[in-house]
Amino acid sequence: MQHAEPLFLGRTFDDFLFRPQHTPVAARRGVDLAMPLVAGLDLALPVVGANMDTVVGQEMAKTLALEGGLGFLHRNSSIAEQAERIRYVKTRHSYVIERPVVLERGATMAQARLTIRQHNASGILIEEEKGSGFLAGILSHRDMPLDRSGDERLVSEFMTPRGRLVTRPSSVAIDEAEQVMFEHRVEKLPLVDEQNRIRGLITMRDLKLYKQKPHSSKDGRGRLRVGGAVGATGDYLERAEAMLTEEVDCLLLDVAHADSDLVERAIKELRRKIRDLPLVVGNVATAAAARWLVDLGADAVKVGVGPGRGCRTRLETGAGVPQLQAVREAWIGIEGKVPIIADGGIQNDKDIFLAIACGASTVMLGSMLSGTDEAPGLVVEDPATRQKMKLYRGMTSPEAVSEGSDDDEQVAEALRTPAEGQSVRVPYVGSVVGILARIRGHLQSAVSYAGERDLASAHRKVSRDPGRFLIPLSGAARRESFVR
Ligand code: XMP
Repeated sequence: MQHAEPLFLGRTFDDFLFRPQHTPVAARRGVDLAMPLVAGLDLALPVVGANMDTVVGQEMAKTLALEGGLGFLHRNSSIAEQAERIRYVKTRHSYVIERPVVLERGATMAQARLTIRQHNASGILIEEEKGSGFLAGILSHRDMPLDRSGDERLVSEFMTPRGRLVTRPSSVAIDEAEQVMFEHRVEKLPLVDEQNRIRGLITMRDLKLYKQKPHSSKDGRGRLRVGGAVGATGDYLERAEAMLTEEVDCLLLDVAHADSDLVERAIKELRRKIRDLPLVVGNVATAAAARWLVDLGADAVKVGVGPGRGCRTRLETGAGVPQLQAVREAWIGIEGKVPIIADGGIQNDKDIFLAIACGASTVMLGSMLSGTDEAPGLVVEDPATRQKMKLYRGMTSPEAVSEGSDDDEQVAEALRTPAEGQSVRVPYVGSVVGILARIRGHLQSAVSYAGERDLASAHRKVSRDPGRFLIPLSGAARRESFVR
């Protein structure tokens, strides 16, 4: 199979500049950045969070989806924890709360107060009998006495009863829900089936939030999208099934070297279980391996061997392909059949544009997202410099491996394999929302310099003939460009 063009051999992001093109763009803010993660699943911001335990937990996954990207939840946890995190994302900030908090009409007001506080809710649905699911009323803040005088009395004495509630079936469309709530001046719209069983809840607050973020990554039912990672051995099928139950949007079969017999078997087994749920597979870095994964049924191929900030693979084994060359190799091997995710080595926003212009559809980010509030882990202050930092670690680093399982035998066995990952400290940078806004702005500018109105057009134009647009740099040109 053909390799990357000579222009790219041994080259990566900092080896090139992009030749500016005449532009039709007047206002960069209007530049559309939508690109497919897999066919039929577009991301308004073509950024996915790496499935690493110092990068994507539930808060990062939620925020990435709200901002138009997507997070892949890592598998360095129990199956139950990973599934729980998927559920968390799928039930946040959608305009329909699918499993609202309920309390029975015979409960006391003290119980109601506690439940409302625990769930940080502004009100709760009341059911007839505990566990029955039949709607009896709503108890909201406004119905509750300010003091504790009614604490021993029953919820049914204070709630707004069923007869006075406006409800709709769960199939209600967003516009209708909004109109009904506006006309009846209600903040909450319970969804019920024909037998009056609770099927969900829409709140005005969620509706407003939903409308404020028109570019969020949402599924057909308005819920945020999220991905989950599995490996190719051990409990991977069980893990996939647990996430499937929570209605994960995309599975990632992720191993360091996916060009292997093990991955072939895993893809076949997974496909039987997950049927047509999108399956991303990686990592590979050659044309032949990328093509092979597509032929096995991967819906997207993740590309990158050794460019990551927490990686020691190239140092320890000598194996790897410079990342921009790897993207070209994959592009040549795949021939446009499925999207490419460029994973690792992104240090500056321009690298995202170069990866996408040269053939990737999206990029996966690890270290660039890891110093943020939403990444798991605490902020620590360096006592010498007083600089605030967070920890970022490769998933095969000894630290990540030792935390990955409760089974001491398994951990000891894994630690016997010499590490190809390391831990580093990264500067604390506040919320990831700021980082994503910066990336969005820089990508929009880059598209304008590329002479296109949207990123998809720039990707199409440049990836067909990158030699027309890229300038290879001398050492002096690189210093002039990047040393500040
Ligand atoms: P960045 O450069 O964005 O890279 O921090 C993120 C990617 O790094 C990969 N990764 C590893 N590679 N050993 C490796 O060789 C590791 O322990 C390791 N942990 C993560 C992974 O592809 C991730 O998305």
